[in-house]
Amino acid sequence: MSLFNTETIQIEELKNLLENQIPIKIIDVRSKANFDQWHIPGSELLPVNEALQASNDNVFADMKFNPNLPVVVVCQEGFLSRKATEQLRDLDIEAYSLAGGIKHWTRVWNTAEIQFDDTKIIQVRRAGKGCLSYLIINHGEAAVIDAAVAPQTFIDLAESHQAQIKYVLDTHIHADHFSRSRQLAEQTGAVLLMPEQDILQYNFTPVYDGDQFNVGKAILKALHTPGHTNESFSYLLNNHILFDGDLLFLNGVGRPDLKSSGEIARQKTAKLYRSLQKVLNLSGDTLILPGHYHQPVAFDGTLIGETLKNLKAQLYLLNLDETSFIDEILTNMPDTPPNFEQIVDLNISGDAGNYNLIDLEAGENRCSSQM
Ligand SMILES: [Fe+2]
Repeated sequence: MSLFNTETIQIEELKNLLENQIPIKIIDVRSKANFDQWHIPGSELLPVNEALQASNDNVFADMKFNPNLPVVVVCQEGFLSRKATEQLRDLDIEAYSLAGGIKHWTRVWNTAEIQFDDTKIIQVRRAGKGCLSYLIINHGEAAVIDAAVAPQTFIDLAESHQAQIKYVLDTHIHADHFSRSRQLAEQTGAVLLMPEQDILQYNFTPVYDGDQFNVGKAILKALHTPGHTNESFSYLLNNHILFDGDLLFLNGVGRPDLKSSGEIARQKTAKLYRSLQKVLNLSGDTLILPGHYHQPVAFDGTLIGETLKNLKAQLYLLNLDETSFIDEILTNMPDTPPNFEQIVDLNISGDAGNYNLIDLEAGENRCSSQM
């Protein structure tokens, strides 16, 4: 029996297949360069892009497929995958084209949870983009950090844990996705907490270094950690878990160069170094929960995070002196992310207006210096 009675499936249907571990084969028919940038976890690149672009027939004729394993075909926007699906079906393979391709996949999210004493933390991961948001729940109250998916997602998660969203916070002004924090605060009546700065063009409650906020019986302490951006903050929960935005990732540190270059970028990199030293002074057992992940997020419910002492052991950048750190960062900067200036402008206005966020946010995040 077939999984679906259509030739095209929606991103939510693929998400359900992955979450329920239904055996399927996902094949990607884009170019190797596009695949290497970002892909669906577990997918396999087949070297058929040029042949499909040239409208060749029988592109898969010489390839072996398991006749019992349904195939989902992925391309950039869902057009080439339709051609590929038709050809696979001609070979009697149960094939489906993913509607909207990898571009729509950037909206898909999944979750992982941890319990720390009486606090539950839900990590909400944009599987197709790597943005990580957090819901902190303690004694019926909740806080959301860096809301990167639709506000209703957090409202539903909070309700399912009988919690009221009290605070909505961003770690910084984002350049890779539109922040949904303002909308979420408006829809829930929560207090919108944003790092102190004079850039944002809408009303918010400013956060200053050392401020503390109660979420139920948990305490969230604000630490100013500039560098990635000047206004960047990290939030320390009960002196044990650090939501550090784009300061420190599992594979490297934040990039300090966006919207700056030359001496300004050098000064920002020096700030980044000092902010990292501030964090490195915390207990080695501190759990670092970053704002991004550098790989496609698996549907395995495993939290993306690491203790500070393990990151220090794994990342050479955390063991350099200031001059070496600055030189290393500034000489190894990856390409700037697509559309970052428009995204920053939208985040400054706090209003996505009529922008197509799928188009704008397409592509992987590049907030890290080490991609
Ligand atoms: Fe960022």
